Amino acid sequence: MSLTHKKVVLVVSGGIAAYKAAVIAGRLRKAGAEVKCIMTAHAAEFITPLTLREISGNPVALSMFDDVSEFRVEHIALAQWADIFVVAPATANIIGKIAGGIADDLATTAVMATTAPVLLAPAMNTNMFDNPIVQENLAKLRAHGYLIMDPDAGMLACGTCGTGRLPEPERIVEYIEHVTGRTELLKNLKVIVTAGGTREALDPVRYIGNHSSGRMGFAIAKSAAAAGANVTLVAAPTDLPTPCAVTRVDVTTTGEMKEAVDSLYDDCHIVIKAAAVADYRPEHKATQKIKKTGGDLTLHMVKNPDILYELGRRKAGQVLVGFAAETENVTAYGQAKLKKKNLDMLIANDVTAQGAGFKGSTNIATFLYPDGTTEPLEIMTKDELAKEIIARVARIYKEKTSQK
Ligand code: CTP
Repeated sequence: MSLTHKKVVLVVSGGIAAYKAAVIAGRLRKAGAEVKCIMTAHAAEFITPLTLREISGNPVALSMFDDVSEFRVEHIALAQWADIFVVAPATANIIGKIAGGIADDLATTAVMATTAPVLLAPAMNTNMFDNPIVQENLAKLRAHGYLIMDPDAGMLACGTCGTGRLPEPERIVEYIEHVTGRTELLKNLKVIVTAGGTREALDPVRYIGNHSSGRMGFAIAKSAAAAGANVTLVAAPTDLPTPCAVTRVDVTTTGEMKEAVDSLYDDCHIVIKAAAVADYRPEHKATQKIKKTGGDLTLHMVKNPDILYELGRRKAGQVLVGFAAETENVTAYGQAKLKKKNLDMLIANDVTAQGAGFKGSTNIATFLYPDGTTEPLEIMTKDELAKEIIARVARIYKEKTSQK
């Protein structure tokens, strides 16, 4: 991705992390963006406007009333110019002002006047960040479509350790690339993606699991977010980083995954179930570590609910997409699952085939549809396959909603 010709207004508010705005502006320019900075009066106490002017290559806007020699309504000009507004760092004060509809300086006035997406990167002391008023303000902004990054955790300037650090500049730039590069294929649709392999505990140290890496589901979540969807990724244990602009819910067992998906289902438009779900769990989880005895160990397993089957039964207009990881009779087993689970599309693959399977970065899939048609695909990366899936899902959603 690149930011060539993208116009970024970087709003710098007055916290110690304001000095990092110089790094952000520099990286944005390096990525090809045109950058104009607005500083609040307090920001100018932490870093000089001259620094940001030199690094951004543009004049820095400081006040509504700087230049009376020519007619130019600065806050409106910047608001209209921008492809994206980025408030970094966003202090508790500017968050409160934006959420409260206060526009008493150039920064807040320009944010209020823009119709471009506004991304906030909060940075403040942990207790300030955890303050319910700040959290309520962030929730309100989120509900109004403002994009909010999670601050990092670590050592803060005030000497305490906790959440509240400005996200690393590269993460902010990556988010800006995501927002300015996204399409409208699934704009504002609520999408649930499940990923990874669920685990069922035998005792406090052992579990029964599977080889799913979560890569396919994470690639789908990333691709859906890049298509403009509001994505919730319900993830079984994996080390993969959360894709940009995706809300992640971590789960371990099939029961937890079902609970998470069920709670979001009624209000969503699309569900893509890439997770490899444990079909059985041990009847009893031992409270203490199971000790070795002289003989063999017998486990009694009970059936887990089939999450996707239940969703299919309750379907009320959602697009439901399932996966079938098979080792033989791929198409026949896939078609049977598609029908049984009342799906709109199924992605079948032979996990034993060279270039497919759980661990690698490529996959070989066949798309199956309810009318019996099949669409075999070439070997491709999981990222490429995710894009193909999202394109089909968008088409199915469009067809479904136009029939209503
Ligand atoms: N699935 C689910 N809940 C389960 C099992 C599977 O939601 N308890 C979902 C998977 O996420 C996948 C699809 O159903 O999208 C098919 O999963 P798969 O394991 O291939 O099929 P099963 O229905 O479990 O059948 P089998 O294991 O016998 O092949």
